[in-house]
Amino acid sequence: MINRRILLKSRPTGIPGEHNFEQDEIPAAPPGMGELFVETLYISIDPAMRSWIAQTSGYTAGVALGAVMRAGGIARVLSSRAEGFAPGDLVQGRTGWQSHPTLLGRQTQKLDLSLGSLEDWMGPLGTSALTAYFGLRDIAALKPGETLLVSAAAGGVGQIAAQIGLIDACHVVGIAGGPEKCAFLRDTLGLHAAIDYKAENDLTAAIRRACPEGLDVYFDNVGGPTLDAALANLRDDARVAICGRISQTVAAEPYGIRNLGGMGARRIALRNFLVFDYHDRYNEARAWLAARIREGKLHQKLHILDGLDTAPMALGMLFKGENTGKLIVKAGG
Ligand SMILES: NC(=O)c1ccc[n+]([C@@H]2O[C@H](COP(=O)([O-])OP(=O)(O)OC[C@H]3O[C@@H](n4cnc5c(N)ncnc54)[C@H](OP(=O)(O)O)[C@@H]3O)[C@@H](O)[C@H]2O)c1
Repeated sequence: MINRRILLKSRPTGIPGEHNFEQDEIPAAPPGMGELFVETLYISIDPAMRSWIAQTSGYTAGVALGAVMRAGGIARVLSSRAEGFAPGDLVQGRTGWQSHPTLLGRQTQKLDLSLGSLEDWMGPLGTSALTAYFGLRDIAALKPGETLLVSAAAGGVGQIAAQIGLIDACHVVGIAGGPEKCAFLRDTLGLHAAIDYKAENDLTAAIRRACPEGLDVYFDNVGGPTLDAALANLRDDARVAICGRISQTVAAEPYGIRNLGGMGARRIALRNFLVFDYHDRYNEARAWLAARIREGKLHQKLHILDGLDTAPMALGMLFKGENTGKLIVKAGG
């Protein structure tokens, strides 16, 4: 059997794309002791991948030139020499951008399909959803009735954060790029308001119109000028969960935040976080998310591209705002 792989060819200077990757095919490796041989079904496409392939990597070691692109995914076990796994099992693990990898059993989890479907495990039970959960529960300590603003609200993390706010009976406003995304936020997800940041000359004023009493919580996925506009609208004791700063990842010049004055006197908290630090509590979050899915209160639009070949192009889409929903690649099955 052949393993089709996508390898890192060069490090991107701006938005990554097909030019940074190359493909090859090698004979698939039989599993060694403690390993599984799998067919990749779905691959998650995440903004963090841009930092993994940059010259200086962020929170984890980078991908070497010539190596298979790193990625999390869902796969079907074809053969196993790892305890607890059998052919046919559906698993979540470090598939990378390859069709038939060998995975380490100790880094792979069997999917609990009593919690949700295979697709749910890429969406409202996946890492983006866990990020939204811990960002709002632990970092922002969102309380019922508060006013919540979410940026990149039509994206993977943002959609879930916004819906958790609705479930918590909060006043929820989303920021997204373009009228279609804003209509999706209002009409499909049921947000109280949506702001198209690309159509606003004065984002600070637009947030004030949507949230005249000010923000209790800002869930920040984008950083830059959007963060600045949100900071100008915070109430006393507000919390800002800094989840990501995608607007700055490929920016030519870093944006200097201006509206930090008075935060101390007003007891405002800004806090970064990494979802992986909550690994020991993933089951707690998934139990809560699964219950909300069953109640019909939590949905996630998946943006699915077909074929492993699309992965390099898909990565670039995140930085151009071309995805609506959690971006994933269907690699097989
Ligand atoms: N802290 C953690 O542990 C953790 C874990 C996962 C993800 N994250 C972060 O969470 C954020 C969202 O990730 P995701 O996977 O859910 O991606 P996503 O929101 O599905 O996709 C990225 C979105 O970012 C928006 N965007 C891109 N460039 C922008 C710019 N210059 N200015 C403003 N918005 C821009 C686009 O939406 P619009 O069309 O609406 O602009 C795009 O669709 C990212 O910053 C990511 O790094 C953090």
